Amino acid sequence: MILKVGIIGLGAIGNYLVERIIESGKFELSAVYDIDESRYNEFSKTLNSPIPLLPISQFPDDTNIFIECASVDAVEDVVKEGLSRGKTVIIASIGGLLDKPSLWDFINLSNGKLMLPSCAIGGLDIIKAIPKDDIEELTLTTRKNPKSLTEEYSNIESEVEIFSSNAGEAVKKFPRNINVAALLSIAGIGPERTKVKIIADPYVERNIHEVFIKSKSGNYKITCENFPFENNPKSSKLAAQSIWASLDHMDSHISVGL
Ligand SMILES: NC(=O)c1ccc[n+]([C@@H]2O[C@H](COP(=O)([O-])OP(=O)(O)OC[C@H]3O[C@@H](n4cnc5c(N)ncnc54)[C@H](O)[C@@H]3O)[C@@H](O)[C@H]2O)c1
Repeated sequence: MILKVGIIGLGAIGNYLVERIIESGKFELSAVYDIDESRYNEFSKTLNSPIPLLPISQFPDDTNIFIECASVDAVEDVVKEGLSRGKTVIIASIGGLLDKPSLWDFINLSNGKLMLPSCAIGGLDIIKAIPKDDIEELTLTTRKNPKSLTEEYSNIESEVEIFSSNAGEAVKKFPRNINVAALLSIAGIGPERTKVKIIADPYVERNIHEVFIKSKSGNYKITCENFPFENNPKSSKLAAQSIWASLDHMDSHISVGL
């Protein structure tokens, strides 16, 4: 059976997914949505056959999978619309899931399935395998070029630690930049106990995330040096590739890794 996919957000990740979906022939696009209609107009020029631009409430009922790759502001609506219809929902803007207890109640009671791909970070397999009570420390240290952060930091000329707190606070201050902190905290010991440090470093061109896990099973340090996505240097190409791989492997008979 060919699964039908609806995509919310036609930016760097959305366009990457559309290309993979079309060239794979394994899925069909049922509808797309972007808050900025000019994005849709650009996107439509690349298509041989049209795909409708529709608000998510009007995504066709036979859409099997809703993929959000838009912004933290889109997350709640996409989750509610998709899961209330019993669909699979894939979310990229993970920060939009934090600090929303009633949304989590809704997710846990729904008949659909929420998927949060690993996107730009590694180590989730280790964090998930270790019993939560055995994790003594979970720290994310993110090093980014100031250009990849907000305007406020654009004039920084030498390496400086601009943030040191927990994942909950990191997502409030850097909603666009720190989805990985949100994801680690959801996989592990929650936003309050997950420590986050952010270093602005004008000498790096890559987004570097270092995950440190101290636990009763062992201590682990995972460094991810992500190359920026050519279409949007604030995102990592790996994020788009990870979402595509989650989709592509959905019907696989073999499950490798956790
Ligand atoms: N989980 C991760 O590790 C990870 C990694 C990279 C990017 N992301 C997130 O994925 C999302 C997409 O990234 P991108 O690089 O494609 O961004 P992008 O800026 O290239 O594209 C985003 C698109 O979404 C549209 N959009 C914004 N808000 C919208 C809304 N409320 N409803 C519908 N459309 C909306 C924009 O007009 C734009 O076309 C971002 O939120 C980003 O933070 C997550």
